[in-house]
Amino acid sequence: MIAQGAEHELHLARRMARLGTETAFEVLNKARALERQGKSIIHLEIGEPDFDTPANVVEAAVEALRKGYTHYGPSAGLPELRQAIAEEVSRTRGVEVSPDEVAVVPGGKPIMFFTMLALVEDGDEVIYPNPGFPIYESMINYVGGKAVPIQLHEERDFALDLAELEPLINDRTRLIILNSPQNPTGGILQRREIEQIAKIIGDRNIMVLSDEIYRRLQFEGEPFSMMSVLGMQERTILLDGFSKTYAMTGWRIGYGVMRPDLAAQITRLMTNSNSCTASFTQMAGVEALHGDQSPVSEMCAEFHRRSEFFVAGLNRITGFSCRMPKGAFYVFPNITATGWSSRASGRCAA
Ligand SMILES: Cc1ncc(COP(=O)(O)O)c(C=O)c1O
Repeated sequence: MIAQGAEHELHLARRMARLGTETAFEVLNKARALERQGKSIIHLEIGEPDFDTPANVVEAAVEALRKGYTHYGPSAGLPELRQAIAEEVSRTRGVEVSPDEVAVVPGGKPIMFFTMLALVEDGDEVIYPNPGFPIYESMINYVGGKAVPIQLHEERDFALDLAELEPLINDRTRLIILNSPQNPTGGILQRREIEQIAKIIGDRNIMVLSDEIYRRLQFEGEPFSMMSVLGMQERTILLDGFSKTYAMTGWRIGYGVMRPDLAAQITRLMTNSNSCTASFTQMAGVEALHGDQSPVSEMCAEFHRRSEFFVAGLNRITGFSCRMPKGAFYVFPNITATGWSSRASGRCAA
């Protein structure tokens, strides 16, 4: 075993100091360790459905394994899956998407990382929602960009104030990240807000990373995409995937849809990092898109039901107040009145 603090100092690249983390994974590790000690744990930390992957999807993967989908495939994804995604996105976002605009990657996260690697230079500014998925800020900092938060307002159900967006945009702004339904607040962006954001961007050559990983888990109303706004398709990178929609977090499969010249660059990053996404997993992805969709709506209805129950319970705790989420599977209680910090543990008086 190699001792900690060994003879030779570990010389880490300086950029590693800029890399953040997703604390949910740290809490998950602690929770799993407690479970191994025999403790009973209710998992409220990691963002994943507690449902099983639908049986037809599992079967498709097993069949693909038997048929020999066990080899390398094209870095951009298998043609069958890119075609299925192009059709799905064309249909649901009301735009025409061709398979060469699709990059299949191992999960939604790599689309964030690859987008930043491909687009953001030292000092370029990236606007991201705050509170938001922690990997956005981590990745912006890691690639040498300047992370510029745009506040989400609790009193407005975690909507952003459009008047606050315009002053954040300048000549260095390279990318704006949007996420709806949103992690961790459960807030959503309404169609008129997305159209307003597009108006504010105007003719500027600013790209939008539209993280729509929770799109199918919106409780009410039709989700709307920046990609659907006239004139925005070539400036939008749509991030979506299978993790949340089909309870496939451990399979590692997601995708980005973007202009073909950028998709080719993301593919180069795939060749240099993962080579390709697991082939049998991609065949399961084709079945997920083509097969029965009722497990998705059942799961969404169940998350909605649970969120109502959970928020009502949280609001009964002294010092807590919590808004109803409009999608995803998160609740974001305000604990200011307890005097606790979000990291501290404690007992409440209720
Ligand atoms: C907002 C958001 N985007 C993307 C992802 C990444 O999902 P995946 O597991 O497919 O990488 C997550 C996962 O928690 C998320 O919350």
